[in-house]
Parts: sequence; structure tokens; C-alpha cells
Amino acid sequence: MTSGVGDAVRRVLRVVPFARPLVRELRARRVYYRKLLDRPREVLIETTNICNLDCPMCYSRQALREKGFIELDTCRRAIDQAVELDIKDVHLYTVGEPLLHPHIAEMVRIAKEKGRRVFIFTNGALLNPELGEKLIDAGLDCLTFSVEGHEAGRYERTRRGSKFQRLLENASAFRKLRDKRGAPTRIEVFSDVSNETKEELTAFVSFWKQYADGVQLVYLANQGGYIKGIQNSQVLPPAETRRPCSSLWATMVVLWNGEVSVCCVDFEGRLIVGNIFESTLKDIWFGKAYKKYQLWHVGQQFSKMPKCGGCDAGLINIAYQIEELNRTLENKYPRWLNEEARSAKREARSGQREAL
Ligand SMILES: C[S@@+](CC[C@H](N)C(=O)[O-])C[C@H]1O[C@@H](n2cnc3c(N)ncnc32)[C@H](O)[C@@H]1O
Ligand code: SF4
Repeated sequence: MTSGVGDAVRRVLRVVPFARPLVRELRARRVYYRKLLDRPREVLIETTNICNLDCPMCYSRQALREKGFIELDTCRRAIDQAVELDIKDVHLYTVGEPLLHPHIAEMVRIAKEKGRRVFIFTNGALLNPELGEKLIDAGLDCLTFSVEGHEAGRYERTRRGSKFQRLLENASAFRKLRDKRGAPTRIEVFSDVSNETKEELTAFVSFWKQYADGVQLVYLANQGGYIKGIQNSQVLPPAETRRPCSSLWATMVVLWNGEVSVCCVDFEGRLIVGNIFESTLKDIWFGKAYKKYQLWHVGQQFSKMPKCGGCDAGLINIAYQIEELNRTLENKYPRWLNEEARSAKREARSGQREAL
């Protein structure tokens, strides 16, 4: 920029009251424009959208989208296409319970044979030793137990249909098996956090440390507005100050029937951008529909997309609020935060820097 133009810009910034915040915003958004041609980091493959539990904070049971299990060939096709797009991480779940799938271990094996890192989130209720052994032998990289609370009362209220004692037995048996085999499978615990529960987090971590190598925490979200009445501390900022949902840049989602969605909580399949039987993940990622959605987010036109207007799930990714919780935990257990939480913190910090 020549000094003449620079001076003119500085004058505008001084005189026009909204110019400075506008420039700040444009700088922050530049990151997302730059990343439009990057590749996604991970693919979520919907092993099934059926669930054995009925958790009050989850919309899975109420969703009207056709229920089903992915076929092995569909899963193989999704993994091959993920390899073509150079996606490193394969997550074998979306909005149902992955351990209900009779071929879950086989799917882990297929993804491992293709050199991917493989992750499963589960409510853990169905994790018997036989299945645990199969998952470990197939080379699963990380198994995450989703839990709330560290005593039967809260757990059984929030994981309706599961028994706390049974979960502890399953988690303990899985850990023993992993340790006995010296397998590299990481074990984590994941919990939704709200203002009401965050005081208990230190006790939560101490308890679950016996069973897991790490913990992940996210704020309870309304998941595209599907979940009503969540007493959440997150306040959805006005569209003009809201950042794009980072999931649109990081994650592709293949539903059990081969449809591709841009969102991991697309309970009703309202954000479909293609189908792996008619196209490939690579073509879909670089295709018009995907880019249109990303640009709407960059342009803060969230309401143009079904479900994004009132969704607070993306705020989790910004990780500002969880930062406070992580700091508490980090002080107490400095080496225990997992890599994901650490990188969320780094991202949050660099986001803050970008915004300055
Ligand atoms: C939808 S579940 C699917 C996998 C498996 N059934 C499970 O519970 O881990 C994936 C994750 O979303 C989390 N989740 C469900 N409802 C949520 C909400 N309203 N806000 C934030 N996370 C939520 C669950 O706790 C779980 O860890
Ligand atoms: S959070 Fe998981 S276990 Fe609970 S109802 Fe949803 S999909 Fe099922």
C-alpha cells in the first residue's frame, strides 16, 4: 500500500466509527477465505443413526430421518474417497450409537488398512470384552466414552437407558484389555458441560482418570436448534459478530445411505451436498454446493442455511468459553489435557490474535 493510500485508510478509520471493527472482522475472516481450498481434516461416517439410549440433550431418538445401518461396501467406498481427498482421520459415528453396528470392528480394520487414524465415540453401554478385543485388534486409535457426571444419579438421568455400574465395568474391562495387550488404543472420556456442572469438573476429572487417558469437554449445545430448553451459558452472538462454524472447514459427513452432509449434527439430513454413489468426496468438497455454504458462513449469512441461523454448536469450536474450564483443569492436572484440548486452546489464541 502506498503511503498516500495508507494515509487515506487511516483517516477513514479515524473518522468512520464502524471502520475499525469492520477491518478487524475482515482480517479475521481472511483466514476462512484462505482455507477454502484446504482439505478437510476428518470424515465422520455414520455407522448408524439408531441409538440404544435416549439422552435428554440429544435429538437422535426424535429425528424422523430414515433409520439404518451403513453397509460395509458403502463404508469402504467412503474411506477410499477420503483417502483420495487426503483426509487423515476417520470417525465412525455421527448421531447414533456405533457399537450397535454388527461390523463396527471390520470398519475399523478397513480404515486402518488404508492408513487412516480411526476414532469412535460411544455411550459404552454395549462394550463387552469380546467387542473390545475386536476393536483393539482391528487397530482402533481412540475410543471415547461419552458420559455425564461421576456418580449414578446424574449419569443415569442424562444417559437414559444406561446403568452407571455397567458402564464402569465396561470401561474398566476395556482399559485392562488394552493395557494387557500393550495396545496403543487411546481411551478418552467426553462430557458436555453447562454452567450447572462446571463446578464439579475437577471431581469429574479425578474420577474418570482411573478409566481414561484424557478428557474432552464441550459446552452443551442446541445442535442446530433441535434441542430446546437447554440451560446453556452460551449466548448466540448476533450474526454480524458471529464467526463461521469451523466444522464446515474441518469435517465431511457421510450418512449411512451414502449422502454427504456438511454438518455432524444433521439429524434430519437438511444440509446434504452430494452422495458418494453419484460423486466423490473430493468433487463434493470442491463443488459448488459446499463452497456456497462455506461462503454463506464467511459472509455471516447463517440463516440462509437450514439450521445454521440459531445453532450454537459452532461456538464450541471457537473454544473461548471452554478455555476457562481447561485452564482450571490444566492448573490441577498440567499434563493431562489431551492434544485436542491443547490445540483448541491454540486455535482460540490465534483466533484472538487474528481478531486484534
Ligand atoms: C450424538 S453422540 C453419538 C455417539 C454416541 N452415541 C455417544 O453418545 O457418544 C456424539 C456426542 O455428542 C454429544 N452430544 C449429544 N447431545 C449434545 C448436546 N446437546 N450438546 C453437545 N454435545 C452433545 C454426546 O454426548 C456424544 O459425546
Ligand atoms: S448422545 Fe449418543 S447415546 Fe445419547 S441418545 Fe444421543 S446418540 Fe444416543
